[in-house]
Amino acid sequence: MDEFQALLQTIQRLFHIQCTNYKEDYIKRRLASRMNSRHIPSYKEYQEFLLKNMDEREALKNALTINVTKFFRDPQVFQCLKSEVLTPILRQKKRLRLWSAGCSSGEEPYSYAILLYDLTTLQKDADWTVIATDIDDTILKKAKEGVYEKASLELVSESQLRRHFRQMEDGKFEVKPHIRERVKFQHHDLMSGIPISRYLDVISCRNVTIYFNDAQKNDLVRMFYQGLSPGGYYVMGMSEFLSREVDGLFTPFRPLQKIFVRKDPA
Ligand SMILES: C[S@@+](CC[C@H](N)C(=O)[O-])C[C@H]1O[C@@H](n2cnc3c(N)ncnc32)[C@H](O)[C@@H]1O
Repeated sequence: MDEFQALLQTIQRLFHIQCTNYKEDYIKRRLASRMNSRHIPSYKEYQEFLLKNMDEREALKNALTINVTKFFRDPQVFQCLKSEVLTPILRQKKRLRLWSAGCSSGEEPYSYAILLYDLTTLQKDADWTVIATDIDDTILKKAKEGVYEKASLELVSESQLRRHFRQMEDGKFEVKPHIRERVKFQHHDLMSGIPISRYLDVISCRNVTIYFNDAQKNDLVRMFYQGLSPGGYYVMGMSEFLSREVDGLFTPFRPLQKIFVRKDPA
């Protein structure tokens, strides 16, 4: 095995990701920038350094954009979900269960919790839950703390910021307890083949599958099918798509926003 392949194996093991579906060029360019900044000339030396140095692991993870996220990322998706998915479900069933799968540092599930909280202020009998999972325990810890830099809040409105966040002395923003307590964070591996629950109304799994190969992506879609209620919604990332093998399981609902509905026999 050459030095590059050995380094890839280490990265896969440390970050629990599948590199085989990455474009090799993409990884090489990001590795080159990390290696330059550490003045490390070879893949072999970088591999050894990565194994010993936790700061570098974090830096490489960020360079590969593994945990990159923000509040209300792709706002048109949240807008569409709010008016065409969450509002009708709450009105009809008064109960809604949403799974944010691959939630990273929590911005996505807290965004859903903010929408649901605001939608139900006048509907006291509404019962909603946001379950948020990730494979990375370090990032889950950060998610539970709910403390963010201003940069990740740029799509949060003034009114949402005032009502749902508290500015801290160091300038960061903390999610207020009435939102934080509504999101249940759990460790879960999306490659396990087992959904965290059944009869879910919405599963949002966005910008996670770029690390999966084709067979793993298809298994994931089948797992989400099992986890959803009949007529439940599956939300994908903007650059993700359903392959031919599994697109019969879902009907496009808002294809531009990558929102699909579970298909069931009539
Ligand atoms: C780029 S973030 C996406 C965050 C958010 N969903 C968004 O779209 O902004 C991808 C997340 O997927 C998680 N992830 C990768 N492989 C996973 C797996 N097998 N099981 C669970 N989470 C995984 C990573 O740890 C990372 O936090």
